[in-house]
Amino acid sequence: MELRYRAPEGMNDVLPETSHLWQQLEARWREHCHAYGYREIRTPIMEYAELFERSVGETSDIVSKEMYVLQRGEERYALKPEGTAPVVRAYIEHALHSAGGVQKLYYITPFFRGERPQKGRYRQAHQFGAEIIGTALPYADAELLAMVMHFFQSLGIPADALELRLNTIGCPECRPAYREAVRTFGRENFARLCKNCQARLERNPLRILDCKECVEVTAEAPPIDPYLCDECRAHFETLQQLLKTLDVPYRRDFRLVRGLDYYTRTTFEVVAEQGLGAQNALCGGGRYDGLVEELGGAPTPALGVGIGVERTLLVLHALGIPLPEPPTLEVYVVAFGDIARPTALQVAQQLRHVGIATDLDLEGRSPKAQMRLANRSGARFAVLLGETELAQHAATVKDLHTHEQTLVSQTELPEWLRSRLPKS
Ligand code: HAM
Repeated sequence: MELRYRAPEGMNDVLPETSHLWQQLEARWREHCHAYGYREIRTPIMEYAELFERSVGETSDIVSKEMYVLQRGEERYALKPEGTAPVVRAYIEHALHSAGGVQKLYYITPFFRGERPQKGRYRQAHQFGAEIIGTALPYADAELLAMVMHFFQSLGIPADALELRLNTIGCPECRPAYREAVRTFGRENFARLCKNCQARLERNPLRILDCKECVEVTAEAPPIDPYLCDECRAHFETLQQLLKTLDVPYRRDFRLVRGLDYYTRTTFEVVAEQGLGAQNALCGGGRYDGLVEELGGAPTPALGVGIGVERTLLVLHALGIPLPEPPTLEVYVVAFGDIARPTALQVAQQLRHVGIATDLDLEGRSPKAQMRLANRSGARFAVLLGETELAQHAATVKDLHTHEQTLVSQTELPEWLRSRLPKS
């Protein structure tokens, strides 16, 4: 049969074979965030496009090349290409600062980028995000990084399979001089830069530093350290000491400038050594101390992280790390003849109401076909209902492992089964 419709390129269906992995991972992320004092925030799937133009930046690839923009009447919307700007918008709109103190917010969100699809890179992908809004102190940076590494560790990913790369990109006070130094370096090495970097050198010179094609050239580029102002230097030094105290290993990578314009000071990524190929960043984040003000709020320092869900699943798969098995069916109800079908449905409902995972045939199949389904379903017990059972207001319970059969009254059935099934 010819396929008339396919999912849009770079956008994936999550089928029942894998959706349980997503559920497990999502549950782990929620638990993890709660254990670190975060609360969930959910924002719309799209925002006014201008929000991203102002925050992620008009010259960034994400906004200038990859954003899905929808025009409806006068309004220009964009499917969210990332999660931070919407959270900051909601923080300002709902005056979340008025609760007092730092806001720790987490989310699970789809996001959309019109990139060239490849392994680990999709046009609709998903992120686990965490944002800490309202503190400039490096304790927050250290806690966030420790939390991210603890999350990967708690999934069973060994520490040596990951590398935390850390950098600082200074602040609006000290970065312009550094940007100029990188621009000068770029001009001096212009012929050695790739076409893309040659084009963006004047507009956005720092981006040449994280271009994969230009690594050999930019290895010789000046590091930011001598350009940092006293505050940025002190922040970065304290952060590094805190990471040592917390036993969080990292590698300084002075070329990690990140592709979103809102970052200040700390930037980081966690890279996986195996399983991801070219798209090897499992997560990325950093400080964005100017963003709340840029979007119309009071000056409020903040920082956060976005973890790629698809990439995390790819790494778990590549390393052969299992997530717990999905819950299986516990009971399959079999009706012998049409006369027993209403009771079968009623009994199935009774069992479901006490939390026993139960299924039954809804297609009018023969008892033999129903028994085949019961055996294939993974259920431990089949509950058989025929005329004899109906007459006695009972059911025959067949243990599908031992094949042992027991007649149980319908009233006692839920308790009888519950006590024999493993605790879920
Ligand atoms: P980002 O580095 O653009 O940061 O994305 C974070 C993570 O999302 C990446 O490290 C990667 O794992 C995953 N990712 C990005 N693009 C794709 C794609 N096309 N397909 C699959 N996975 C992808 C941000 O989005 C920032 N909002 C992170 C942040 C939060 N910074 C501060 N707070």
